Amino acid sequence: MDPLHLRSAGTSVLLAFDSGEAEIVHWGADLGASIPDLGLLSPPIPHSSYDVPAVGGLLPQASSGWLGRPALRGHRTAADQAQSSVPGFAFSPALRVVSVEATLDGRGARIVQADADAGLSVASELVLHEGGLLEIAHELTNTGAGPYQLDELAAVVPLLGDATELLDLTGRWCRENHPQRQAVRQGTWVRSGRHGRTGHDSSLLVAAGTAGFSNRTGRVWAVHFGWSGNHEQYLDSLADGRRTLGAAELLGSGEVVLGPGESYRTPVLYAAYSGRGLDGVTDAFYRWFRARPHHVDTVSGRERPVVLNTWEAVYFDHRLEPLEELAALAADLGVERFVLDDGWFRGRRDDHAGLGDWYVDETVWPDGLTPLIDKVTALGMEFGLWVEPEMVNLDSDVARTHPEWIAGPSASSHKDGGRLPLEWRHQQVIDLVNPDAWQYVYSRLDALLTENNIAYLKWDQNRDLAEYGHAGRPSVHEQTLAFYRLLDALRAAHPGVEIESCASGGARVDLGVLQRTDRVWASDCNDALERQTIQRWTEAVLPPELVGAHIGPTHSHTTGRVHDLSFRAITALFGHFGLEWDIRQATPAERETLRRAIALYKRHRGLIHSGERVVADLGEPKLALQGVVAHDRGEGLFAAVALGTLAAEAPGRVGLPGLDPEREYRVEVLLPTPADGDWSDTFADVSRPGWLAAGATASGRFLAEVGLPLPILRPEHAILLHATTVR
Ligand code: DGJ
Repeated sequence: MDPLHLRSAGTSVLLAFDSGEAEIVHWGADLGASIPDLGLLSPPIPHSSYDVPAVGGLLPQASSGWLGRPALRGHRTAADQAQSSVPGFAFSPALRVVSVEATLDGRGARIVQADADAGLSVASELVLHEGGLLEIAHELTNTGAGPYQLDELAAVVPLLGDATELLDLTGRWCRENHPQRQAVRQGTWVRSGRHGRTGHDSSLLVAAGTAGFSNRTGRVWAVHFGWSGNHEQYLDSLADGRRTLGAAELLGSGEVVLGPGESYRTPVLYAAYSGRGLDGVTDAFYRWFRARPHHVDTVSGRERPVVLNTWEAVYFDHRLEPLEELAALAADLGVERFVLDDGWFRGRRDDHAGLGDWYVDETVWPDGLTPLIDKVTALGMEFGLWVEPEMVNLDSDVARTHPEWIAGPSASSHKDGGRLPLEWRHQQVIDLVNPDAWQYVYSRLDALLTENNIAYLKWDQNRDLAEYGHAGRPSVHEQTLAFYRLLDALRAAHPGVEIESCASGGARVDLGVLQRTDRVWASDCNDALERQTIQRWTEAVLPPELVGAHIGPTHSHTTGRVHDLSFRAITALFGHFGLEWDIRQATPAERETLRRAIALYKRHRGLIHSGERVVADLGEPKLALQGVVAHDRGEGLFAAVALGTLAAEAPGRVGLPGLDPEREYRVEVLLPTPADGDWSDTFADVSRPGWLAAGATASGRFLAEVGLPLPILRPEHAILLHATTVR
C-alpha cells in the first residue's frame, strides 16, 4: 500500500502501511513533494529483541512488538465468552489495515484496522488543517457477538528522538495554567485528571521539544486533548529509544462496555508541530480556531463587546436599584454587555441553597428580571445571565422532589439509603445521564432564554466529582457527553446566544467544550499579576477573543494585592476585555481612566482578536514582553511587563518580535498615558529613554534585533506599546 503524505503550513504527516498496520513515520517539518521508497527506514534489529522490527503504529500494540503503553486496552470476560463468537479474552489485539482512504483533497485520511479474531475494528480519522494543526480521533467497534469491556483507547503521535525537554501546565483554583518543565527520561510520564471535569490542574498543552526550546526558537511537538471529563496525558519513552505523546479518556472500572455492534469514539487529540518555538504552536491553534465557521467573530460578525460582570461588584446582594445604577455607570463608560452573576434564582441568597431551581426568585425580583433587562438594553447593552445547570443544592426544591437525580456511586437515591458523594461548595451534581433530569435542566434553560431577552450565558460548574455514577455505574463519560448534548441542543434552539465556559474559573478549558461555547473564564483571580501568567499560558492555545479578562477592583479580592489601573487595563486588554468591579466605588479619576481604557480596547480589539501572538524570549525571568502582530505586519501591540523586581538596575533594550524586517515603524506608548497620572507611578528613574515621550521610528529588523531601551518599570507595572508602519 502506498504511503500517505499530508502536508500543510510547514508540517508533514507521513503515514506508511508496509508493516501491515498504519504507522506515522514522520510528524514534523514539511518534507516537500518527493518521498523516497520508505524501505530505507527499516531499522536494525538489536540482540535480545523480537526477531522482526517492532512497529510503533498509529495504535501502538503488543502484537507488533510495542513494549510501551498500548493504545487499546480492554478484554472480554470469562462470562462474556459464553455469548462471544470469538474465543479468548481479546486482551491483545492484532489490528491490521483493512482500508485506507485519502480525504479532504489530500489533507485527511480515514484508516480502518481490524482484528477479526478479537472481534474488534478501529476506524481512525486524521485531518491536517490548513494552519498546520493535526487532529486525530479513533472509533472502536465491537464486531464480536459478546460484550467487550474497554479500559482505554488512546490517540498517540510519535516524537522525534531530539525532543529532550517536556513542558506541561498545571494549576489550582485562582492559579491556572502555570508551566513546569523537565528533561525527558526513559519511562512513562503521566498526568491524570480525575476531577469529573477538565480540572484546574489539567495540562492545556503538553509540549516536547529540542533542548532549550523557547517562545520563538526550537522544534516543538505539542498536543492538546479536547475533552471535558477524566483523562490521562502521557509521554512514553521506551528503552528502544522511541517516544510517543498520547492522551486518552480515563475510564472507570466497567464504565464502557460495548455490546455487539456498539462503538466508542475517542475525544480528539490536537497536535501542532513548530520549527520556531512555542509561538509556532500557538499560531497553528489560533488558525484552527479562527477558521471554524462558528468562531465568535465570524458568527456574530462584530467585535467582542466590553463586558461588566457583577460578581466582584455585588456578589449575592441582588437589588434592582443598585444594579441599575451599576448598569448606567457601565454604559456611560462604554460597556456593551452587562452580566448578572450568581444570586438571581429561587432561594439563592448565598452558596448554600437554590442550585437546580432555575426560576427567578420572586422575593428578590418581584417583577422578574425584565425591569433590569429593560434598563440594560435601553442603555444600549446586551444582557447576560449566570447559570450553573449541572448542579444542585440539597436545599432546593428540585433535590427535595427528585433525590434520584443526584449523581453518585449508589444505584439508589440517598432517600433510599444510597450513599451521596462528599459535598463541595455545599453542592451535588445532577445526573444528566438520567433523561428526565436532562430534560428538566434543558426545559428550564430553554424557558429562561425564551422568556427573557438574554444574549449571553455564563455557564458555571463549581465542583469536582470523583464519584460520578448513574444507576450504580461510573458515568463521567456519559455525563460529559450529556453535558455536550445540553449545550448543543440549547445552541440549536437559541443560535444567537453566546455561552461562556466557566468552572470555578478555568477548570473547564478545553477544545471539547470550546466546540460549543464562545469563551472561557480563565480564572477567578482578577489580580493582574497572577493574570499575566495565567493568560500567557491559556493563550498559548486559545486566541485572546475566547479568554475572558476583566479589570478587577483596585484591591484584589482573591490575593489582596493592589495594582494601579493601567497595569490592570493592559493585562485585561489582551483577552476578551471587561470589568468586574463595583465602579460605583471608583473615583472620578479612575472612571476617566476606565473610559480611556475601554476606548483603547475598542480601537485595538480588531487587531488583538485577529493577529498573530508573539512572546519574546528574554533573559530576565521577571520581565515579560508579549504582543499581537497583524498578519499583514502593518501594526503590532506589545505589553512590556515587570512581573517583579528585576535583577539588573534597568531592563535594558528589548526587541519587538514579529514585525516585518523590511518595513519602517513608528512605536508609541499607549498606556499609561500622562493623563492617567504621573508617569513616575510606573517608572522608577531619574530620566527616561528619549523615545518614550516622542515615539521611535525604526525598521522592523532594528526593532527586533537591537530593540528599544525600556524605562525602569516599577515591579508589577507595565507599558503598552503600539507599532504602526510608516513605510
Ligand atoms: C465561580 C465563578 O468562577 C465566579 O466568577 C462566579 O461566577 C461564582 N462562581 C459564582 O458563584
